[in-house]
Amino acid sequence: MFRINDNFCKLAESYLFSEVARRINAFKQSHPDADVIRMGIGDVTLPLCGAAVKAMHEAVEEEAGGATFHGYGPEQGYPFLREAIAENDYRQRGIEISADEIFVSDGAKSDTGNIGDILAMSNKVAVTDPVYPVYVDTNVMGGRAGEFGQDGCWNGVIYLPVTAVNGFVPQLPAQVPDVIYLCYPNNPTGSTITKDELQSWVDYALKVGAVIIYDAAYEAYISEDNVPHTIYECKGAKGCAIELRSFSKNAGFTGTRLGFAVVPMDLKCKGVSLNSLWARRHGTKFNGVPYIIQRAGEAVYTEEGQTQTKAQVAYYMNNAKVIYDGLKEAGYTVSGGVNAPYIWLKTPDKMSSWEFFDYLLDKANVVGTPGSGFGPSGEGYFRLTSFGSYENTVRAMERIRAL
Ligand code: MLT
Repeated sequence: MFRINDNFCKLAESYLFSEVARRINAFKQSHPDADVIRMGIGDVTLPLCGAAVKAMHEAVEEEAGGATFHGYGPEQGYPFLREAIAENDYRQRGIEISADEIFVSDGAKSDTGNIGDILAMSNKVAVTDPVYPVYVDTNVMGGRAGEFGQDGCWNGVIYLPVTAVNGFVPQLPAQVPDVIYLCYPNNPTGSTITKDELQSWVDYALKVGAVIIYDAAYEAYISEDNVPHTIYECKGAKGCAIELRSFSKNAGFTGTRLGFAVVPMDLKCKGVSLNSLWARRHGTKFNGVPYIIQRAGEAVYTEEGQTQTKAQVAYYMNNAKVIYDGLKEAGYTVSGGVNAPYIWLKTPDKMSSWEFFDYLLDKANVVGTPGSGFGPSGEGYFRLTSFGSYENTVRAMERIRAL
């Protein structure tokens, strides 16, 4: 008799954003006329920028011609895109990352989950709390999380609480982890980390022999100085960190799918190169991102693409300011929204996160994400995203202010 991976049975029935979607659909069934404004999942609303669309059209034409057609591409990504990433995201910041340290993928979410393939099951994992749920759920699937307790924690995971008390910056753990997930600018809290604070994590990882999985999907939203754009700004990071990036939030590729992982040549475990392991994994389990999408990604780095995508980020950050100011005016305790498209607020009147979700949906027809869905320390908090249209963002704030 075959056996399933029992670890899947330990998980909550559905993924956080699937549960949010389920509740919205149920609400819409019972309130068919409600004009629901969605500020839950961090999905962009502006269309792909002109430079990317033009590149896609040209690539489609290539695919239509016998002499220019592309079948299987290199699994790790086409050299033109790997080179553009290495040059624009790293070398231009004075960081020496080579194209063969870049692995093009269908997004940071997939990379976040798949990275576990090359890490032993016995690794002790540390995550911030609250945290992007994919880090925890994929470690549950991989058998690294242990059992789920009454306290809302997995007993095999080290939780690093990030709350108002520590300014949403995690403290070094008392128990030594092997794998540390960090995400900055942070999803869900919208907070960030200074270069010195991140350096202390790099120093710590080097000292204890841990690897940092650094999710920098929201890098394009950094507006303040002294916030690192990449972990490789920190000394020694190439020896202890894998960085994950995405084209979803900076260039609107949530539907088209494009991201990449940086696995430095210097990153080794007992002499074994993680770059080689990841290349082996990629080559076996992945046939690469479509040529058309990679050409669109390349176009993001052109002058035109940079101007257009920066304008999109500015648009969303203007929404973030509308949300931040609107909530403050309405008397909420708010953070985030300065270097990130997420605003993190304290629920009023000691409401639980899900109570506030229902309240906001029912009374204002506005959808957000309950903080407790990101971990036990998120209880009593709530996340709103600035990825909606300006008009809807303004309307949502008017409704919330009127409550
Ligand atoms: C979020 O809302 O946290 C993100 O959109 C989820 C994701 O990027 O997968």
